[in-house]
Amino acid sequence: MAGTRAETAEEPMKTSILKVDISVVRLSSSSKAGAEDTNTKGHVTIDDSHADAEHLRQAALELKTSDIPVAFPTETVYGLGADATRSSAVQGIYRAKQRPSDNPLIVHVQSVQQLRDLLRPKRHINGSDELSSHDSNHDQHETQHNRLEDPIPSIYTPLVRKFWPGPLTMIMPNPEGSILASEVTAGLSTFGARMPNSPIALALIQLAGVPLAAPSANASTRPSPTTAAHVKHDLDGRIATIIDGGSCRVGVESTVVDGLSDPPAILRPGGISLEELRECEGWENVTIGYRDVAQSEARPRAPGMKYKHYSPKAAVLLYEWTSSRPTREVLLSRVGPQRRIGIVRTLNWPAACELSSTLLDTAPQDGTAKSFIVEDDSGGDVEVLDLDLGQSPEGIARGLFSALRELDAKHVNAIFVEGIDDRQGDVAAAVMNRLRKSAEQAITD
Ligand code: TXA
Ligand code: MG
Repeated sequence: MAGTRAETAEEPMKTSILKVDISVVRLSSSSKAGAEDTNTKGHVTIDDSHADAEHLRQAALELKTSDIPVAFPTETVYGLGADATRSSAVQGIYRAKQRPSDNPLIVHVQSVQQLRDLLRPKRHINGSDELSSHDSNHDQHETQHNRLEDPIPSIYTPLVRKFWPGPLTMIMPNPEGSILASEVTAGLSTFGARMPNSPIALALIQLAGVPLAAPSANASTRPSPTTAAHVKHDLDGRIATIIDGGSCRVGVESTVVDGLSDPPAILRPGGISLEELRECEGWENVTIGYRDVAQSEARPRAPGMKYKHYSPKAAVLLYEWTSSRPTREVLLSRVGPQRRIGIVRTLNWPAACELSSTLLDTAPQDGTAKSFIVEDDSGGDVEVLDLDLGQSPEGIARGLFSALRELDAKHVNAIFVEGIDDRQGDVAAAVMNRLRKSAEQAITD
């Protein structure tokens, strides 16, 4: 078994990619975001006559029995999952990712009931299961009564209905007697919960029968993976199994919200818009917590925000949308010993930033970047890898991490990125949030 090997040997383990065709799992319409009945949300049917169903079962078995995490697709990015209730399994995530252990993990659930069970742990009293009574506050009776009704804080009710399953993570109170492994929360009294809307992710949680703690499946500090190949690149030899469900539809991680604070706050921007959140009861005054982090707060509210993140090996030079594009001199000053730079364009920059006046060759590459060979002032060749992410924030979000990874794999010395206006909407804000973290330098003119 993979688990035994990793514990006893230093040698790298074999990492297998198991394909799961999208047609193997189906999410019924009553299980989707917006459905009124929250109890049916996230339920999937698995077509066991399809050969790929076996891949899901194998991965689920590993999640239940081994301490090696399994990588799987979600609609945002690939996650690295482990049984959230088992310490040894969760430790395996931190080990594989080489992630600092004070950065808490998101708990992925497949049903609302699964979240309720986390918020209202049962304990065994006199031979019967009873609710644990652990309220030291004055109104114990009423609190317990409420908990029997629904342990999910009422502030989240409209969000669960509207956005789950989907790219929204909600910060929940971690109860006394919690069945979550302590490594999930990294010492906080809260945990982040999300119901992904990838049918493959939901099927895996359903088959494993336990909530899955899962950070993005990249090596710590690297851009999040949006394909199985990205995961393999980062974690080859460190995990046994990657479920391959194709490219992620969203491309940036979930929006993280904290409804336990007053007013509620967005801790990380993602695909769910501020306007959509503000339409929900109790969320009319939601604040943007992640800007506060950058400006003033000494202790970041989302612990993940303080680390270097999303960084390729090459230096990322981010041009805010208000600044003029890099000149030929600036571009050529960053070619490095590799004599190679990357350019990631969005709205306005022209191909290869008009280095094309000295353009000698245009050759489409196997990836999405085009290669231009340019002569510098001393007559030496420089390779410019030019990548166009298009104009829509959604398209840019989908392709961003993949672009950074592709240019890195081609060993550029620096990546010049054309930023977008983050007031264009929340996906644009999410893109700029990730880019600012990955950038060595932000150019504002
Ligand atoms: O889209 C996603 O959310 C992906 C996929 C795999 O689901 N997951 C993901 O996980 O991005 P990760 O671990 O890379 O990011 C989790 C973020 C971090 O910024 C972390 O600090 C924050 O959520 N977080 C987790 N628990 C928290 C808590 N109790 N309080 C505040 N922030 C928390
Ligand atoms: Mg991450």
